[in-house]
Amino acid sequence: MSKTFHESSAWSAAESAEFYGVPRWGKGLFNVDTKGDLCVSPRGESKDCSVAFREIIDGLCERGVDMPVLLRFEDILESSINAINAAFHRSIAESGYRNVYRGVYPIKVNQQEQVVGKICTFGARHHHGLEAGSKAELIAAISFLRDPEAYLICNGYKDEEFVELALRAKQMGVHAVLVVETPAELDLILEQSLRLGVRPALGVRMKLSAQGGGRWSESGGDNSLFGLTVAQLITVVDRLREEDMLDTLVLLHYHLGSQIPNIRDIRSAVGEAARIYAGLVHEGAAMGIIDLGGGLAVDYDGSHSDFACSCNYGVEEYCADIIEGVMGVLDDADIDHPVLITESGRAIVSYHSVLLFNVLDVSRFESALEEPQLDDDAHEHLHRLCEIPSSLTADNVQECYHDAVFYRDELRALFKIGAISLRQRALAERVFRHVMFRALELAETLPFVPDEFVDLAPRLADVYYGNFSVFQSLPDAWAIDQIFPVMPVHRLNEKPTRRAIIADITCDCDGKLTRFADLRDVARVLPLHELHESDEYYLGVFLVGAYQETLGDLHNLLGDTNVVNLQIDDDGRIHYEREIEGDSVADVLSYVEYDPQSVMRRIKELAEQAVRDGRMSVVARRDAVHAFDAGMRGYTYFER
Ligand SMILES: Cc1ncc(COP(=O)(O)O)c(C=O)c1O
Repeated sequence: MSKTFHESSAWSAAESAEFYGVPRWGKGLFNVDTKGDLCVSPRGESKDCSVAFREIIDGLCERGVDMPVLLRFEDILESSINAINAAFHRSIAESGYRNVYRGVYPIKVNQQEQVVGKICTFGARHHHGLEAGSKAELIAAISFLRDPEAYLICNGYKDEEFVELALRAKQMGVHAVLVVETPAELDLILEQSLRLGVRPALGVRMKLSAQGGGRWSESGGDNSLFGLTVAQLITVVDRLREEDMLDTLVLLHYHLGSQIPNIRDIRSAVGEAARIYAGLVHEGAAMGIIDLGGGLAVDYDGSHSDFACSCNYGVEEYCADIIEGVMGVLDDADIDHPVLITESGRAIVSYHSVLLFNVLDVSRFESALEEPQLDDDAHEHLHRLCEIPSSLTADNVQECYHDAVFYRDELRALFKIGAISLRQRALAERVFRHVMFRALELAETLPFVPDEFVDLAPRLADVYYGNFSVFQSLPDAWAIDQIFPVMPVHRLNEKPTRRAIIADITCDCDGKLTRFADLRDVARVLPLHELHESDEYYLGVFLVGAYQETLGDLHNLLGDTNVVNLQIDDDGRIHYEREIEGDSVADVLSYVEYDPQSVMRRIKELAEQAVRDGRMSVVARRDAVHAFDAGMRGYTYFER
């Protein structure tokens, strides 16, 4: 744990920015102003149109939008699409690459209509296309694609209907490429193409031997679930040759996995893919396109390292390495440069969404200890334990802590056999907790903090209860230990004096955030401010635009949060573009097969029975039914 608490009372907003790592993960999109507010600058470095989250929250409150709220910054989405296209264009120009970049957005990363629609709008000038991996995604994508120069990459398992829809889309002018993922798919595509009289544009997805590091490393490599082996590829080529259809094979695709942290893995995959591409050209396939899949990583913890939640490269290096890798192989083989496609998802959508929630309450362990009052006949171990606080120093902290653990355990055992009283046990626990606090404080003054004290910090942390559900809004934090930047969005010119973990409002012991961004490791506590009784305390979770919305679930029947799309103009004015109301209680009940009308009927019957039994007046019945009716229409989260 590298975040330590200094006793100086002066504290600046700049220190908060550094403390929470904003310049490292914020990419210039987020910054802290001198008043201590976290601000968003949706067009990046230029702070001209920077807006404080506090101002946004005020606007939400005035409009009656309750927390938690997912904010989608449309300008950030636009900036991200422009950034990847600009980086490829620059690399293409600088290297003399003789073809173009055509990005496609894989809609699995965030399928919300608003998001896909905006991506198509912002991507239009770059001919940015879409990637679909299922029939539902395919239909959604086709409904948006209007640009004949933008690609529609059709990945995923395909049945007859999938293939028919993609071929009909091609007939309607969509630049659809059907990617063969398994040998059996080729037969299906050839049959459907004959039946419909539509010649397909085909791609092949390859299993490369190269494997990316990081969490999704098994998406690549020999044992990956998807794609053709080289042997299967040759079978596909032979079959197309037999059918006189080698001219339909235009694209080579691979996907190394999402969030590839190390640029070396990306480079080595490109080299292998370019060789396969060259091989296919020599086999007589038409080719013309390499699709390098997703994988462009997001630096969630700001460490610029090859840690799974980070990456040791930026978009410029990514583009340059891809182009160099492809050119290096194809120039030697005297093969024309292909169109380059990447299916970057998280790099495009992560930054544009921010989850905001208020803190409802805090539970804390008190470290203060009054002078213990011990009876003379108290057990000797209790006497020994109570002596420890006064003898504790930085020099003997480890020894004293071990002694305290020993006496605490002995006293617990004595309690179990009835040898000490409940009050004595309570005193032992209080003294032990005090020793833990003091030991942690002293250990942190040492040049090296031993592991056993690092582990103490989360055990002594306050629990801040946030008005949100990890399972609904941050499922990856629960399922795969994904780290997202989390921090207060105001009061940043005050020193955060508490160490906390964050619990959500589900009744699940996994509903918590206990891993936080840190430069050298994963921080186990988050520094936060004392709550003020009269003021709300707001936290933001950042970079949540990828995967979280659709993967989120209804645990404890906490539903979709309110969503607000925002634009910020050049004068720094906030435009609340669109508000999508979160689920009501009736909505979430209907998702799990309840009929809200039947639910209300049963509640009314219960109330009527209470009237009949004399437990409730008719007026109380009316009020109760009103309350349940309002509850059914209400938000599933905590309402003030
Ligand atoms: C085939 C394919 N393309 C693209 C992506 C998107 O990857 P990323 O979000 O890392 O860009 C994925 C996700 O894993 C994928 O499976």
